[in-house]
Amino acid sequence: MLDTSENLEGTHIPATDQLAGAAIAARSLRRTFKGGIEAVRDIDLTVSAGEVFGFLGPNGAGKTTTVRMLCTLLPPTAGSATVAGLDVVADAAEVRRRIGVALQEIGLDPVQTGRELLELQCGLYGVTGQRARARTHELLELVGLTEAADRRTKTYSGGMKRRLDLASALVHSPGVLFLDEPTNGLDPASRLTIWDEVRRINAGGATVFLTTQYLEEADKLCDRLAIIDDGRIVAEGTPEQLKAEMGHDVVSVSVEGGNVAATEAALAGLPGLERVVAEADALALYVQDGAGSVAEIVRRLERDQIRAGAISVARPTLDDVFLKATGRRLEGQQQPGQATEVKS
Ligand SMILES: Nc1ncnc2c1ncn2[C@@H]1O[C@H](COP(=O)(O)OP(=O)(O)O)[C@@H](O)[C@H]1O
Ligand SMILES: [Mg+2]
Repeated sequence: MLDTSENLEGTHIPATDQLAGAAIAARSLRRTFKGGIEAVRDIDLTVSAGEVFGFLGPNGAGKTTTVRMLCTLLPPTAGSATVAGLDVVADAAEVRRRIGVALQEIGLDPVQTGRELLELQCGLYGVTGQRARARTHELLELVGLTEAADRRTKTYSGGMKRRLDLASALVHSPGVLFLDEPTNGLDPASRLTIWDEVRRINAGGATVFLTTQYLEEADKLCDRLAIIDDGRIVAEGTPEQLKAEMGHDVVSVSVEGGNVAATEAALAGLPGLERVVAEADALALYVQDGAGSVAEIVRRLERDQIRAGAISVARPTLDDVFLKATGRRLEGQQQPGQATEVKS
């Protein structure tokens, strides 16, 4: 199917349904690999123009497979998708002109400089001469590589390579940018730099679709996100909506002297208590109203003469959302039983 799309170049096939207004839309999108592996199972999603949309999920969830289908690199087994109102199968060539793609594997020529790479990339999109030099200059500024522009890419750090890759996805000023785990494996400082760049690119008008395994990235960077697990979208919304739908806060009580069991007994039947997770020296209490529960927690601990350390109240995290939707914590993040480690 995909190969035939090249022959349709210049043939405009009007987007026929309600998906037309969205920057990205997928309906019942499915991909099955040989051996019956159902990598993506009937995904529905709509991304509005101008959004930073995140796809959050663990390894093997189906993130890359979805991105490859949306980028016309892999034909769907079933279902349909449009990007910029164009069908990813029937209008693949035109879709490719409208999108920028930075996939996980970075193939940089080590002896090329950053500037050379970007000028070459411009050439691939028909931008040449003075225009290519100007665009390269602009992109190097955008991703903060101006000073390193004339160094060979083999001298670049991991973060710099990602930023160069990001710049090379932007040479033709795409309206929609796909980033597959743009900060995977980077140190926290490099990650923040990439976030800044994604925000700047988005402020310049591009819709961004990114995948990530990092809760904080989904939370801080994305306007809206879908949580994907085992090929299915299990939750979708703004980070705030998703956390608010949890309907509870998490109160952490650190227990002095390791007397967790007695503390748990003292707090059993606390009004609004939904779940307790015990750790070596702390308890996490999932309650409907965190702030409103603190006084009663303190009263009960005093009653039973239990010396508690710090008590803190936190909103649920996206990891709690993931846990509720899948029964597991996100891989590489917290392990079961460590649920008391709550980030605000
Ligand atoms: N080309 C392929 N052939 C067979 N199975 C594949 C192929 N690509 C991915 N898969 C499988 O599909 C599932 C989803 O993979 P992927 O989309 O890469 O997940 P993610 O990007 O979320 O880690 C995994 O079980 C993976 O092993
Ligand atoms: Mg992947």
